Amino acid sequence: MVVLGIESSCDETAAAVLEDGRVRSNVIAGQEVHRTWGGVVPELASRAHQEHIVPVVDAALKQARLDPRDLTAIAFTRGPGLIGALHVGAAFARSMAQALDLPLIAVDHVRAHALAHFIRDERGLPAPAFPFINLTASGGHTQLVLVRSALDMEVIGATLDDAAGEAFDKGAKILGLPYPGGPLIDRCARDGDPHRYAAPVPTVRGLDMSFSGIKTWFRDLVMKGEAGEPGFTVRERAHLCASLQQAINDVLIGRLKKAAQARGIASLGISGGVSANSALRERLLDLCERNGWRAHIPPVEYCTDNAAMIAMAGHVLFEAGVRAGPDAAPYARARP
Ligand code: KG4
Ligand code: ZN
Repeated sequence: MVVLGIESSCDETAAAVLEDGRVRSNVIAGQEVHRTWGGVVPELASRAHQEHIVPVVDAALKQARLDPRDLTAIAFTRGPGLIGALHVGAAFARSMAQALDLPLIAVDHVRAHALAHFIRDERGLPAPAFPFINLTASGGHTQLVLVRSALDMEVIGATLDDAAGEAFDKGAKILGLPYPGGPLIDRCARDGDPHRYAAPVPTVRGLDMSFSGIKTWFRDLVMKGEAGEPGFTVRERAHLCASLQQAINDVLIGRLKKAAQARGIASLGISGGVSANSALRERLLDLCERNGWRAHIPPVEYCTDNAAMIAMAGHVLFEAGVRAGPDAAPYARARP
């Protein structure tokens, strides 16, 4: 089974070809146009997707050494995301499926993150058995999902305010680092002491999460430090990055542990852009080792936004008999 996946929900135009769940190609075109603006500008994203989509899909097919006629199905991201950006991928996928008379599969981006574990890749840890608990954490969403099957996912906890990735990005901005700041914080934190500055522990009940208090604490810490001794931010940068990363990961790891205990589930996964964080990956391995649980962590390129996970989700949905009609319109906001 050969599935082409197309992803265009935010600022990456991506296409991937999977054969029986194995990656034959995984192409991503980023968008430099947003760099000067400190965030993604929706209209610029739509235009860049329009420029990139044909060459990106073409490259994915060429790298896979396949002809469009070899495809079994085409999967695309239907939502959530930037509506104009989603329309570019959806219209392209729909037209291509129609022209080639191929089945079309509409994929939910957030659910696809949780299915990234099933991409067959020797470098990753073994795929989880159902049920497992997944932390899907990225720039737009942070949720704990009880995954009973590819079609049966229940959100058992979610952030009440910022997403974890947003907390990393906002923290980086406070330090004057460019967007997206998550990977920079990760790198810089390696030289710092994670216990130098302690954040207040968010008081949220159940399995929900909150990151806005951490952001406020961090902004105050930096402003007061700089006012007290100019140059503080630069001098203390590594410690500040490590402390911020520790505060965010404390929330994420704490919630994973609580969810596993509350639900009696011994398989824990992380995915989404924030799961590329090296400290978070280590802490999940450590948590699972100490409790006799199984950890599931995809290779980094399937954690951040990519089309391989869209093709993977398309693969399992196709097997389950799910098809999209020609009228499957994109949606901007998360579906329950
Ligand atoms: O999944 P993703 O690529 O896109 C969305 O669907 O949002 O996630 C992007 C987010 C950004 O907030 C970025 O800063 C964060 O993931 N991120 C990281 C790391 N790599 C990406 N955060 C912390 N550490 C990283 N290594
Ligand atoms: Zn994502």
